[in-house]
Amino acid sequence: MHLSRLELRELRNYETLALELPAGVIAVHGPNGAGKTNLLEGICVAAVGESPRARTTDELIRWRSQHGFVRAEFVNSERRRRVEVGLAASGRRQIKIDGVSRRRADLIGVAPVVLFSASDIEVLRGEPSGRRRLLDSELSAIRRSYYYHVTRYRRAIEQRNRALKEVRERRSAEEALTPWENAAARHGAHVMLDRSDFIASLAPEAQRAHATVTGGGRGLTVTYGPSIAIETGQTAGTDGKDEAGRVEHVTRRVAAALEERRRVDVQYGTTTRGPHRDDIELALDGQSVRAFASQGEQRSCAVALRMGLAAVAHAMTGEAPLLLLDDVLSELDERHRRGVFAACDADQVIVTCCDREDIPRDVLAESSIFAVENGEVTPHHARPR
Ligand SMILES: Nc1ncnc2c1ncn2[C@@H]1O[C@H](COP(=O)(O)OP(=O)(O)O)[C@@H](O)[C@H]1O
Ligand SMILES: [Mg+2]
Repeated sequence: MHLSRLELRELRNYETLALELPAGVIAVHGPNGAGKTNLLEGICVAAVGESPRARTTDELIRWRSQHGFVRAEFVNSERRRRVEVGLAASGRRQIKIDGVSRRRADLIGVAPVVLFSASDIEVLRGEPSGRRRLLDSELSAIRRSYYYHVTRYRRAIEQRNRALKEVRERRSAEEALTPWENAAARHGAHVMLDRSDFIASLAPEAQRAHATVTGGGRGLTVTYGPSIAIETGQTAGTDGKDEAGRVEHVTRRVAAALEERRRVDVQYGTTTRGPHRDDIELALDGQSVRAFASQGEQRSCAVALRMGLAAVAHAMTGEAPLLLLDDVLSELDERHRRGVFAACDADQVIVTCCDREDIPRDVLAESSIFAVENGEVTPHHARPR
């Protein structure tokens, strides 16, 4: 899949922009504050209907403007799709696909995009909640049932927490917890199994990407760290009967764990075990990336994780996502920079950097180059044949 055309109006520091983009590697370079990240943000707005970094729609709209607009044309092996997103300062947004008004969820699958940004490194370094958010958003994007179960699970936990406080204040009997525990177990089992399966397919892809980025060296492992120990029965197969059996087993485990923790949970007034406390563990040769890896090593792991996510999406949908690499090259030496490009499995890669010399010479020779300055984008020269 690739982005063949991008138009921005009154978005961030872009007044108007219209770009034709070929497949292959696209290098976007320019000084700090030029609008490189804003450009990628615009692409994400078209691809997923929202910005990965703006908290409000208002932030995205150019200062002193009331409306912002993004139009993008995505081409995959089968067809060309046009996505338009209108943004209003009031917070309203209108999404059209091929000229027809749609909801945000309708964008799923239209233009799969994987973005690497510097904040990914914070996700590796930071609290488990950031890694769970990553997992939840990736899984929700590919599995509608995941989104359903994870939102119902959260609701059940909120209700149980409320009930725990009532039990503590002796306004309810302990039995009041049972219905919420049952609901949490039922939905939580699906959440845990989906996470477990997803990480099982992600792990080898991330490991392969990491080996390519770093040129072998230390092996990256990605494992699921569930808050409640379960047997996922991953090898049991996925036919209906086995699947029901797995769900049944995990549901019982979660229900039992919640019941076991009642006394402690009443004391704390909160649910101390469950998928809302899960983590993803990354390790290099068995040592925690979060705790021990250097800045540069963490960056390579973060890139590999995104590449792994792209590979999983490719395998599941048959379409290689568009790769957006925002400022990925800083802090990496020449060998790792080469490795990043070698690891890209995509029809199109848009990479931003301050200096185009940051891009390995042979990659640059094959790239389309755009300079960004002050919200204006200038193509360098036609892509060599
Ligand atoms: N809503 C907005 N309207 C106008 N300019 C904005 C808006 N939001 C951010 N900017 C400007 O965009 C610039 C940052 O662009 P960005 O794409 O993050 O830079 P970089 O090229 O370093 O990635 C800043 O100079 C900022 O002032
Ligand atoms: Mg930037």
